[in-house]
Amino acid sequence: MTETTPKRILFVDDEPLVLKGLQRTLRKRRAEWDTVFAANGKEALEILDQQPMDVIVSDLKMPDMDGMQLLTKVRERHPHMVRIILSGNTEHEVTLRSVQYAHQNLTKPCDAEILKQTLAKLFALREILADESVKKIVSQIESLPSLPSIYSAIIEEMQSEDPSIKKISAIISKDLSMTAKILQVVNSVFFGLARKISSPQEAVVLLGLETIKALVLSVKIFSEFSQKNYSWFNVDDLFNHSMSVSANTKAIVKTEKLSGDLLNHSLMAGLLHDLGKLILLTNFPRPYKQVLTTARESGQNLWDMEYEAFGTSHAEIGAYLMGLWNLETPIIEAIAFHHRPANSMSENMGLLTAVHVGNAIDHNGQASANGDTGLVCDAHYLETVGVTDRLSEWCQVCSLLAERN
Ligand SMILES: [Fe+2]
Ligand SMILES: [Fe+2]
Repeated sequence: MTETTPKRILFVDDEPLVLKGLQRTLRKRRAEWDTVFAANGKEALEILDQQPMDVIVSDLKMPDMDGMQLLTKVRERHPHMVRIILSGNTEHEVTLRSVQYAHQNLTKPCDAEILKQTLAKLFALREILADESVKKIVSQIESLPSLPSIYSAIIEEMQSEDPSIKKISAIISKDLSMTAKILQVVNSVFFGLARKISSPQEAVVLLGLETIKALVLSVKIFSEFSQKNYSWFNVDDLFNHSMSVSANTKAIVKTEKLSGDLLNHSLMAGLLHDLGKLILLTNFPRPYKQVLTTARESGQNLWDMEYEAFGTSHAEIGAYLMGLWNLETPIIEAIAFHHRPANSMSENMGLLTAVHVGNAIDHNGQASANGDTGLVCDAHYLETVGVTDRLSEWCQVCSLLAERN
């Protein structure tokens, strides 16, 4: 979202007090946001017929036409608009159903800063999803995994006024099988810790909250995938690959001394960069099995085969889900473009560059074990970003990690 062009936002709420409150809070942001207010769905649709808007933020419960009906109509008539639902209801059910008609579900009362951040992320996501075929395939997906409740609980605790490590550890400990898997991962050579960790609390203290957050999310998602239905796809291999990509990404980000935020995002981006594969597998098992087999037998890039079969790839699909889950924009961008980085809008070295190269290095490691050589990277993109001469050092740093593992 550019700060110079104000975004036009339409707010819809049947309670005059809520609209007045929003008007007051948003007055300070006139330079960024052009706001219009409507008291009901009918009025909102009339406004939209007369003037183009970028975003609609609607109350859920309204007489005559509720937020869901209104946003469904807006989706049909003005598909380019970003749609946000404001509800007093935090129930999971509402959030899940709202995925159909809203891009985001926010809880009342909504803080102006949270709204601003949400909008920035949604605009970034909209760029990713500008392509019609991504929208088409996503609309056919029946079982889009929901954000694990344990992850939401951790985030909530982290964002509370006085976050407590004890409480976060207690949240994790409640899920025994996940705790066991997390301890197995943190005690693996991957983390290279000097001593054995035996409790979530120790893990949180030693590795930090950002790391634990990323581990909880990815371990939970991977564990919910039922391996027994797909004997021809090895989910453990994918998890191990994702761990290696995380480590490579982190090492590259560290070598380049990028901001601490990006270092924190490295683990999450690496662990979830191929999540779209699990979504394709679960929702389109037969055609996806065919795609995987053809790619393996022909030696062609998997993502090129996916584009041929589905019009999009696991990269965009994974990024779409991350967007719905409100993950940070650099993570969404890195996942969306990890195979085709030149399609992104950023021309600077960032998380995307690190994931793109970190992924290629791990694939190359697997390939050299099979006798292949050569890194599958976008050389032109690396040149544009100005990091071609950094490649050999990155390969060295990453191969040291691989040796350790
Ligand atoms: Fe990938
Ligand atoms: Fe990958």
